[in-house]
Amino acid sequence: MIDWHIKLLEEHRQTLNESSPRDFLDHLLIQQQTGKLMVSDTDICCVLDDLQGAGFDSVTATTDWGIQLLVQNPDVQKKLQAEIDEVVGTGRAPTTKDRPNMPYLEATLWEIQRVGMIDPIPGVRGALSDTTLGGFDIPKDTVLMANHAKMAMNPINFPQPQRFDPSRYLDENGVVVAPDKKIMLFGNGFRICPGMQLARDMMFTVMANLLQRFTFQLPEGVTALPAGRTDGLVQHPLPFKIRAIAR
Ligand code: HEM
Repeated sequence: MIDWHIKLLEEHRQTLNESSPRDFLDHLLIQQQTGKLMVSDTDICCVLDDLQGAGFDSVTATTDWGIQLLVQNPDVQKKLQAEIDEVVGTGRAPTTKDRPNMPYLEATLWEIQRVGMIDPIPGVRGALSDTTLGGFDIPKDTVLMANHAKMAMNPINFPQPQRFDPSRYLDENGVVVAPDKKIMLFGNGFRICPGMQLARDMMFTVMANLLQRFTFQLPEGVTALPAGRTDGLVQHPLPFKIRAIAR
């Protein structure tokens, strides 16, 4: 992984045009050259590694869950396609500029994240001093883990939590109400996921483009997809096959 990053860094350095940075790596190199940021090549490679590790698998896993859940919920898939057809049509590809006009897809992405729950127990924390949390005494050095999977299935915040129902994030005017503190899908506080906006943009773009062009269904003769999930920090559904039918 790091070898690949060193190669990428060298390629960027050789083709860098300071007045027209192409991407995040170009910006880092410019900061390094001008001395505005004291970063070594190793630091830059570690940042790239962090972003790739945290950023790629999480969005891929969420997309896997999304496709599985839409195959299992064809009524939701139909509504999404109707929204895409109305807002975008077929003459161009959906882009992030369409996001504000597509509340049902926005709500569906929250529901995919809740039900898919790719990281049930994210970053572990340690108490630096004696403190209290929600009325509980937490002594210094206690290890704390937030159980996101439990939050996602809390029937007080999500009635009938096993149901896949994007409309739970839409108010009476059809406006999206993000689940925010009910579930903390991107963490919370100082260490909240810095890729949240990028991730939501990527998930929107991938889903909108796929659904504009394809309908996803179970393969012929198959009645159910495999239940269960992979182990690991980022959890995917178990491998499954579907039919992608061009619209
Ligand atoms: C569906 C997509 C994603 C989900 C669900 C997700 C979720 C999370 C969560 C729960 C955390 C831990 C926050 C905490 O400890 O409180 C985190 C941290 C982080 N995420 Fe994401 N993330 C996603 C996509 C991305 C993307 C696209 C990037 C960057 C390209 C990214 C970069 C990071 C980094 C660097 C951290 C560590 C932050 C720190 O420790 O200060 N994530 N993410």
